Amino acid sequence: MHLLIRGGTVVDEKGLNEADVLIIGGKVTEVGRRLVAPQGVEILDASGKFVLPGIIDAHTHFGMKSRNGIITADDFYRGSASAACGGVTTVIDYAEPLPGQSLKEAAKQRRLEAESSIAVDFSLHVVIPDLDGDRASELEALLHYGISSYKVFTTYEGLQIKDRDLRRLLQLARELNTLVTVHAEDDQVLQDARHRLIQQARVSPGYHAASRPAEAEGRAVESMIRLADETGVLIYFVHISTGAGCRAIGRARAAGQRVLGETCPHYLLLTEELYQRPDAQKYIMCPPLRKAEDNWMLWESLQSGVLQVVATDHCAYTWDQKRSARTCFETPPGIPGSETLLPLLYSEGVARGRLTLPQLVALLSANPARIFGLYPRKGGLAPGSDGDAVILDPRKEVVLSAKNLHSAAGYTPFEGWRVQGYPETTILRGKIVYHRGYFTGIQGGGRFVAAGLGSSF
Ligand code: URP
Ligand code: ZN
Ligand code: ZN
Repeated sequence: MHLLIRGGTVVDEKGLNEADVLIIGGKVTEVGRRLVAPQGVEILDASGKFVLPGIIDAHTHFGMKSRNGIITADDFYRGSASAACGGVTTVIDYAEPLPGQSLKEAAKQRRLEAESSIAVDFSLHVVIPDLDGDRASELEALLHYGISSYKVFTTYEGLQIKDRDLRRLLQLARELNTLVTVHAEDDQVLQDARHRLIQQARVSPGYHAASRPAEAEGRAVESMIRLADETGVLIYFVHISTGAGCRAIGRARAAGQRVLGETCPHYLLLTEELYQRPDAQKYIMCPPLRKAEDNWMLWESLQSGVLQVVATDHCAYTWDQKRSARTCFETPPGIPGSETLLPLLYSEGVARGRLTLPQLVALLSANPARIFGLYPRKGGLAPGSDGDAVILDPRKEVVLSAKNLHSAAGYTPFEGWRVQGYPETTILRGKIVYHRGYFTGIQGGGRFVAAGLGSSF
């Protein structure tokens, strides 16, 4: 597709630049002042607006079946359309092998499923619950296929990787220069908390935070860092929620270890008091919401570079799906988030002076593109990169409400939040996929982006 974005302020991770962006055949061909649109090229006026590279949500679960068999409300189409309405042009979702299934087969299947309906571009992480069968020898083939990041869990029955397999995986990833991402909650701490709460008959949704104490994250992050240090492998912690997690990552980085981390808007902006509400289930995700001091530590960690990515862990269930469970242990964990990622981070980050605009671009686009091997095709607006952009109107004020959002969850944990600045147009490879409140993309319009080797910083 051909498009000239005219008169905006282009933002990258280094700074701001008054420039036009010319996209021909889906690729950026020129960025500069007063560019001339070749014949037949559509012109989009961006004066007074910011032009950012398309947002990358590096952590989504579209069309995911939970352990108790419940399927998320947002499938690949609905989830990605909603993401596009928030400025997201690429998501990184997960392929999870069934017991006995090869990793490559799981990846192929998941890719096919996504390609048939997804509306933005996508890449995949592969979940590695064990290295049974030929799984260890498949990692190289996966890399050639375009998958260079794995996900391991330190908890969850059926997903938690055993110590022996974990050590082997870290060694293999070190040899291949691939990335191990980690869901870090210490299983023993969780089991103890669960046992105690059940004995005390404290199992309502209001006990969710108590059932997954902050200590679980601190301990798991520390022990994973120690293990990774033995091989020097690059590791990345997903959804860091606590000050303890940040401090452990900060210490390892200061000592020169290659450790990266991600947090999510809900851990930056919401706190565990929400579990006292009658609709507590709407705020149940794993790990749970924490305290105000954790929020502060997470913002500080984004500012100082201890954490490099903000992603959403989008895993949307409807209120009906959520409330069908009576206890904190049975409520399907996860919340919608992709569509509100940029609006919240711009408003609460940039407009409030916690982040600069280039920092915002780094956290939501350039850094995930580099870390997950998608750069420079994604993550920037330079000649040769994909023509993915979001035009953000810094003056537009919006009150977030499920009524105006596009996720099938039908609710947002940020209902009623007033945000300053909002995406006006989202562009995927030169095609407008969202404009002023409306999704204009197409089902199946997204493409698989093969990841190369990522980089650490
Ligand atoms: O509650 C969450 N986060 N659900 C999605 C799965 C995960 O652990 O990331
Ligand atoms: Zn997780
Ligand atoms: Zn997740």
